[in-house]
Amino acid sequence: MAESKQAVTTSEGARVFLDPYMDWVKKQGVPVHLDFGHDLLALETGDWAHYEARGCFAHTHGRGDFCANYVLEISPAKKTKPVKHVHEAFFFVLAGFGSTTVWLPNGEKNTFEWGPKALFAIPLNCEYQIFNTSGRETARLSCTNDLPLALNHYHNEDFIFANPFKFPERIGEPSRFKGEGEHSAFDRLKGAGQINVWDTNFVPDLTSFKLYDLNTRGKGSRNVFFQLADGTMHSHTSEIPVGRYKKAHRHAAGTHVHAVSGQGYSLLWYDGDSEFVELPWRHGIMYTPPFWMFHQHFNTCDEPARYLACSIGSARYPFISLRRVSNEGGGSTSVKQGGRQIEYEDQDPRIHRKFLEALKASGASSLMGDVFDEEAIMRIPAEDLTGVIQTPQLKGPAV
Ligand SMILES: [Fe+2]
Repeated sequence: MAESKQAVTTSEGARVFLDPYMDWVKKQGVPVHLDFGHDLLALETGDWAHYEARGCFAHTHGRGDFCANYVLEISPAKKTKPVKHVHEAFFFVLAGFGSTTVWLPNGEKNTFEWGPKALFAIPLNCEYQIFNTSGRETARLSCTNDLPLALNHYHNEDFIFANPFKFPERIGEPSRFKGEGEHSAFDRLKGAGQINVWDTNFVPDLTSFKLYDLNTRGKGSRNVFFQLADGTMHSHTSEIPVGRYKKAHRHAAGTHVHAVSGQGYSLLWYDGDSEFVELPWRHGIMYTPPFWMFHQHFNTCDEPARYLACSIGSARYPFISLRRVSNEGGGSTSVKQGGRQIEYEDQDPRIHRKFLEALKASGASSLMGDVFDEEAIMRIPAEDLTGVIQTPQLKGPAV
């Protein structure tokens, strides 16, 4: 699907409005999907000479300027061509079993095995090759990367894909390819809670990885930040407990949210909207909340629901000021205090009503009677649940 753009009239011969990233994408000859979000398990792929495998681009309207996503598909018992690139790349395993070999700057190579719901990063400009070690199952991986940032900045494909420069400081201990790492934590400003960080290159299973309480995003929420391959890209995994949901918040574009386990839906809206955008999710669904659009995640199943978010700006290297404010706690602080979060008591009554109705349909039970008078919410006449979505009065400049 082509990107929709305004036609631009230019003087003859003027080299303007160039997008080297999209030029490279089109040259790959694989499907380019563009939507609000995607079912990455179902997207059509095509032969991709770059990897000697199959793939497609899973572009989203809210991906922003720095990051993008593609799906890499490797047939049973096949392997990719070795590649390297001067951009960061996180691979989330959607399906299948395999291994990845990474050639390190010191000449050694390191191979690690992965299965569904593993996450790994390729250290910057290390050559790597991905193997499907199953003789029967296709392997599908989601790659969130900052190639748009790198290629649009340098606009030289050889610099990105055939560059001999080495970055040994990105590797860390070899044990980081075995799933080991280092834990640290930092306190955020404004009482926004403590963030736990795990430094590694490889997380074997996001469904069982240890998470830490982060109640400021909603009671029972748990979270960990990953600092992968000492990168500028960020990722975190969060868990929504049974019978509950996260608080709404908003931030910069480009956070690629992947459902990992459980089922539910997300609501998204801008200030002044009268309707929510609703996006159901389960494993395979990936989407990016657009810039400054409020979004809120709801667990409607009978197990904790986890998701993986990948974006620009890590805990160590925030890179953009909006990300720095998120790391400092802006995303977990009420809009009434200058932050970006809507507290439960300030949210539109339609939100909890919809949650209760969704639970009725799924058979799960709400555990949020400690926050809401749920009987009163169900008694509100439907005609009173219309109009512009109520968002609290913002105090001071929103950050
Ligand atoms: Fe978010």
